[in-house]
This record gives sequence, C-alpha cells and structure tokens, in this order.
Amino acid sequence: MIDLHSHLLPGLDDGSPDLEAAIALAREAVSNGVTVMAATPHLRADYPAIQVADLASHVGVLQAALDAAGVGLRVVSGGEVDVLWAQSATDEDLRSASYGGRGTDLLVETPYGELPPIFEDLLFKIRVRGFRVLLAHPERNRSFQQDAARLLRLVDGDVLVQVTAASVVGGGRAGKLAQRLIADGNAHVIAGDLHRAGGGRASLREAVAAVDPVRGEWMTTAVPAAILEGRPLPPPPFADAQPRKRGWFRR
Ligand SMILES: [Fe+2]
Repeated sequence: MIDLHSHLLPGLDDGSPDLEAAIALAREAVSNGVTVMAATPHLRADYPAIQVADLASHVGVLQAALDAAGVGLRVVSGGEVDVLWAQSATDEDLRSASYGGRGTDLLVETPYGELPPIFEDLLFKIRVRGFRVLLAHPERNRSFQQDAARLLRLVDGDVLVQVTAASVVGGGRAGKLAQRLIADGNAHVIAGDLHRAGGGRASLREAVAAVDPVRGEWMTTAVPAAILEGRPLPPPPFADAQPRKRGWFRR
C-alpha cells in the first residue's frame, strides 16, 4: 500500500521528534503493509523553520538511513500545505511541496475550525496555478460534517478527497462522514496521517478491513500510485458499477 500523508520526517513539525522515531514509524508502517510513504510535514505559518526547498534533501537523508537500517520503505517528498501558506508561496515553493517535487499534485490541509466562506476561493487559486488538489481529512471538519454538500461541490469540481484511516475505523461524526464518502464514491484516498510509532492511530490495513475490500485497495494502492505519477485516476472498480450516489447528502 501507499500512504500519501505522514509526518515521518524527523525534527520538523509535530511528527517524528528525531531520526530514531522516524525509523520506528517507518518500520511500523512496513509491518502494516505499507511500501511507499509520502513525508508530508506541515507547511504553515506556525512552522516557519521548515524550508520547503530542503524537503527533497531531507527525504534523501531519511531514505539513506532507512536503507542502512534495512527498512523496506520508499519515501516520497511532499507537504501538507496550508491554504493561506500556499497563497504567498512561490511557484517553486509549491512545486517543492508537491508529491515527489513533480509539480502536479498537492496535499492541502483542511483547516480545523469553521471553514470561512473564502475557503473554496483559496483552493481555486491553488488549482489555477496548475495543481491537482488532494484535500486532507475534510471529514474531520465540523463545517463539512454539518454541510456535506459543500464538500461534494468541491468533489464535483475535481478536488480529490483523502480520508484518514483513524476516521474510517473510528466512530463519531468524522467516522460517519468518512464511511458515507467512501460508500458513495466521493472519497479517493485513505491515508494514515501518522505522527509517531505506537501512537495508536489506525493503520491503512485496519481501514481497508473496515470498507469494501475492492474499494479499499483502489484508495490505498491504485489511486495513490496515480497521484504520485501525476496521472489521471484509474476508474473506480466498484463492484456494483453504479455511479456515485448523492442521495444521502440531500436533506
Ligand atoms: Fe497531517
């Protein structure tokens, strides 16, 4: 499986505190069936020390350490981009933050508080600069929980949706929204958003076990592979071959 969202890089944000912790997290991911992991540190105002231009070299250092430790994980560079950070970022910054530095696909963080009306505009401004957006864990945001139609309008506009494994297996509002998004074909990726080993966050494997297995495979292998290569998404292999449903969100 391919995990497109992690805080694996050591000493940058609220993820791995040091190299030892990063290796432990990588080892745990491999034991849970992950072969490729994107390192996506927070790129936002409260982590000003992170230099986006250095992400690829940080990944190179970590990869060498993992290889030396015999951990069979391939690490890909990326970032969890804050929408406001993106507005002032240069084109080169955004390219460095994109998956593999390819300049095609960006992981964009869903804000935690109430979504301002301008949120969609800010996303649009990123997209017109030539990036496909993968929106990180919208199911955890109260505004989307209360108004899922707002999220579906973004999906209709070709924004991709990443739900977090912990949401998929957990209950509550986030779990309910994640499960419905998956069942209706309105979510595209399941990722771990892992911060540290032994953190107790659900693995991709546990999340896949909690959904239709064919759909789970599409969301943890086929779609992430296409995103890393900047390709169009593979067609959804849904067993029922139904178009995605909207009814649940109509009240
Ligand atoms: Fe994250």
